[in-house]
Amino acid sequence: MRTSVLTVDPAFTIGPVRPRTFGSFVEHLGRCVYTGIHDPAHPTADADGFRGDVVELARELGVTTVRYPGGNFVSGYRWEDGVGPREQRPARLDLAWHSTEPNWVGVDEYVRWCRVVGVEPMMAVNLGTRGVQEALDLLEYCNVAGGTRLSELRRANGADEPHRIRLWCLGNEMDGPWQTGHKTAHEYGRLAAETARAMRMIDPGVELVACGSSGRGMATFGTWEHTVLTEAYDQVDLISAHAYYHEEDGDLGSFLASAVDMDRFIDDVVATADAVRAAGNHTKRINISFDEWNVWYIDRAESQPPSGDDWPVAPVLLEDRYTVADAVVVGGLLISLLRHTDRVHAASLAQLVNVIAPIMTEPGGRSWKQTTFHPFALTARHAAGQVLRAAVDGPTLATARYGEVAALDAVVTYDAATGEVVLFAVNRSTSEPLALDLDLRGFGDLVVAEALTLSNPDHTWAATADDSTSVLPRANDTAAVRDGRAHAELPPVSWSMVRLARA
Ligand code: AHR
Repeated sequence: MRTSVLTVDPAFTIGPVRPRTFGSFVEHLGRCVYTGIHDPAHPTADADGFRGDVVELARELGVTTVRYPGGNFVSGYRWEDGVGPREQRPARLDLAWHSTEPNWVGVDEYVRWCRVVGVEPMMAVNLGTRGVQEALDLLEYCNVAGGTRLSELRRANGADEPHRIRLWCLGNEMDGPWQTGHKTAHEYGRLAAETARAMRMIDPGVELVACGSSGRGMATFGTWEHTVLTEAYDQVDLISAHAYYHEEDGDLGSFLASAVDMDRFIDDVVATADAVRAAGNHTKRINISFDEWNVWYIDRAESQPPSGDDWPVAPVLLEDRYTVADAVVVGGLLISLLRHTDRVHAASLAQLVNVIAPIMTEPGGRSWKQTTFHPFALTARHAAGQVLRAAVDGPTLATARYGEVAALDAVVTYDAATGEVVLFAVNRSTSEPLALDLDLRGFGDLVVAEALTLSNPDHTWAATADDSTSVLPRANDTAAVRDGRAHAELPPVSWSMVRLARA
């Protein structure tokens, strides 16, 4: 068996593990909101109609922020439609997903749901069909304590205290021609700058995310970020990045190495932001909000919106069923995000429920965890303290899409308060196990507190409502510490977590 040697030292850190790395996303899309988080007929529903079983699963998943209400949906959204008495709310066409939006859930319900789950809201404003004034109106409605028309409207709608939302997205994927109200980089950069400047006049404490590219493969990637930040550098805090991956043409090897693409994406956006910083003689740094990432089989039939005269409410859309291999990739993408914790300051797994999601529901019925739930939940729960720099020396693999890549992808966190060292690792090989040899110099005596591996002889296994537990992360009995080095065998197509505690 080939061996990868990983060396870490508590003195060499990249940056802190950021709670906001473990955000997610709820869009008015398919069954994410309706029959996902919201299902008044469900036996566990609360007074707002929110499913208690989904609240519990979201908590167990460990999500920290939830981006809302889109996504492509936000670019045609009128937030006023979703507040006030439900029976007076209008139904509208949702052009993004060719659906009917009944507005049964809006801003106030979303914020209440966030408080119940215990997550931070992350609100997007519509810069597609709308502009500065509507963004200001929504901010006034949400964050002004009272005494103005819109803040008093919120209070009359039952929210006496302001929502105090700090994290705001200035539109969504405005570089994409599919976006309602799509803009050029220059048009969007100006609009983002002016919207941000005005929003800070109401609430200087907001943190603002400008739209970066909707994918690294966009023809405008790089120049888009450069132009937008040249216009809006001083006004915004973060720039977004979005990336979705899937196995193409049976090329499992490249798919398992998807984090290589995410690494390059992040490095390229950081380089571009820092180039604008230098050219403009700015002092602050712009960091990344990776606020859409996941595995998504975008070409499958279930990702195609309805058409013609069919404008359904909450149709089945983007309901991908995730395999073990998909979960290994999700675990690897989280490793990439953690490895860039110095510049990735927020991230959102897209999405939370039913729509390319770790949590699935039946309308009025059962809920269950997809395979992707497990690496996310374990990483969110156990990554703590500082992310360490890791030197990796080991075998490589040839991939069609990314060339030679390391067989082992790994990141290590160290919590000085508890003394716990946690390794998250992916064996990218499609066929060979890999021996891990982790040099723990400088940590003192450690023992294995827990070692879990997610893998399966059939990596295409996917959870269903009837069976979501036959394949789970299982104890990896090969994990052991000997002479200041941790060892473990990692099966092919696997994701693992090894927790090491003071002896
Ligand atoms: O998450 C699904 C969609 O992917 C979002 O609505 C959009 O922003 C992206 O293209």
